[in-house]
Amino acid sequence: MCGIVGVSNDSNAYKIIIEGLENLEYRGYDSAGFFLAPNKIYKTTSRVASLKSKNKDIVSNCGMGHTRWATTGKVSIKNAHPHQSYHKKFVLVHNGIISNYLEYKYKLIKEGYVFKSDTDSEVIVNYLEYLYSQNSDMDYCLKKLIEDLKGEMALIISMKGDEGLYFVKKGSPLVVGKKDSSFYLASDVLAISNYSDSFYFPNDGEYGYVSKSNSYVINKNEQNSITFNQEQFENNTTTSTGFSCFLLKEIYDQVNLIDAISKTYTSGNKLSLYYQDIKKSLKSSKHINLIGCGSSFNAASYIKSLDHSSHISTYVGSEYVKINKDETYILISQSGETYDLIQLAKKIKKKKAKMIVLTNTPHSTLARMSDITLNMCAGYEKSVAATKSFLASITILTLLTKDISNVTNYLNKVKRSIKYTLKHEDKFNDLAKKISKLTSLYYIGKDIDYAICQEGGLKLKEISYLHVEAMLSGELKHGPIATVNKKFGALGISTKSSSDEKIKTALAEVKCRKAPVFFLSLSKDISEIRFLKGPKYLTGVGIIIGLQILSYKVANILKRDIDKPRNLAKSVTVI
Ligand code: AGP
Repeated sequence: MCGIVGVSNDSNAYKIIIEGLENLEYRGYDSAGFFLAPNKIYKTTSRVASLKSKNKDIVSNCGMGHTRWATTGKVSIKNAHPHQSYHKKFVLVHNGIISNYLEYKYKLIKEGYVFKSDTDSEVIVNYLEYLYSQNSDMDYCLKKLIEDLKGEMALIISMKGDEGLYFVKKGSPLVVGKKDSSFYLASDVLAISNYSDSFYFPNDGEYGYVSKSNSYVINKNEQNSITFNQEQFENNTTTSTGFSCFLLKEIYDQVNLIDAISKTYTSGNKLSLYYQDIKKSLKSSKHINLIGCGSSFNAASYIKSLDHSSHISTYVGSEYVKINKDETYILISQSGETYDLIQLAKKIKKKKAKMIVLTNTPHSTLARMSDITLNMCAGYEKSVAATKSFLASITILTLLTKDISNVTNYLNKVKRSIKYTLKHEDKFNDLAKKISKLTSLYYIGKDIDYAICQEGGLKLKEISYLHVEAMLSGELKHGPIATVNKKFGALGISTKSSSDEKIKTALAEVKCRKAPVFFLSLSKDISEIRFLKGPKYLTGVGIIIGLQILSYKVANILKRDIDKPRNLAKSVTVI
């Protein structure tokens, strides 16, 4: 994954790079580092904050930074970026993965190059230096890098003795910002939007150069000046003030989220005309394919479970999806940068099928590729675990695929259920305490509740590190029940009274094997905690929020790094 940032011709380069890295840390936080011209490189396997505290007042007007999610080479200082070439001619930061790097590494070793790290990125910088030693035309060298190295790369490169920065874009995201004669580069516009007033999003295969005296981009051998567009982007200054972490704040934000959806999508008690038209086109579409990864896939499953007609199919973004020209593809992605979805979007575009992207990041790669962008309206979601973006996805998709006569009433009912659960947050303390003592847990549900179990289970798993698995109640006895024991229990979920008995029976079967069981249901006489029923299609919204709170509380008891769980990143930009 990784985040990269670069600054050319701004005397505040150090401050901007650190600030940029803080904003990019959601892309990975295994290690971080920066380079400041002419020769300062600093790396850490701690968080970006430690770069800040250890390095004060470094004066430079050109440099770059990197925050890493390890792919090639374990987490270590030697594998942290920036990487410098063997003869110290170049320094670079890289976001992406090169699949044929070993082939070039062996060639370079034969040429006398010595490698310090295990990364593919160090191969890039050394290969660049080798190419330059053969032909000192940078444009030729960058073109050759793109041609020879297979895979993905967004690169920011500094050459010794040169006042500017080179950039390369192949697959991985990159934006170039400008203000007056200063230039800023980053994986995500939010890292540089405070400093730039106009932007250029390079296309795949493009490379170029930015400095005080010259800037250009090269596309298919043609060199042009860069056309910067004036745009405004959402300011990323959100804080978790008043809450112990962003996750908890974002769980509470969900009341406002429903207001934001209402403001964007409705007019009076109905969907606004623009969204009515989209709804009509979905209804008349031959087939709708809902596609996402992780929580976004769970949102797709939720919508599919509401409608077992053959009109909707769901796919995990990394799996095979057949693209038919006359069908509609709805890609759900909070970040809009998920690698597997971008690959799929390219295929959809090639087939000229209709593509709608539901995203929380309207300036993202996916949004820029889509025919129609639907905004999740969730505001900046900082915690790695998706909360408000999941709720936004299922709420918006019910509005666009279901017959809801009074949208305002519908959304008000959703809000009431959320508020009720939040008001009784303390009721989850006991349950959280008991669950925190377990090693594993089945989330047991049926039909739509199975989708809720998948999402609730993913949340608990990713922030508490407990082993959690969603289980269809009827499947438990066909094998999985062999695993339960004192430390491996089950939590039943039921948002339909018709499912209550079946879940109860499944839990009883677990309990008589001496495993702990818990039950959350909308039927108050059997549920551990009371919930307020939501409207049709979002009946269980109170329980969905409850499972988020439960995950937070368990992770808190276990003293986990809730907003930045180990091994994860907010934006999954690799294969
Ligand atoms: C959810 O809590 C996760 N962090 C993760 O599963 C996430 O939903 C997934 O990586 C998809 O991301 P996207 O919505 O940005 O495409």
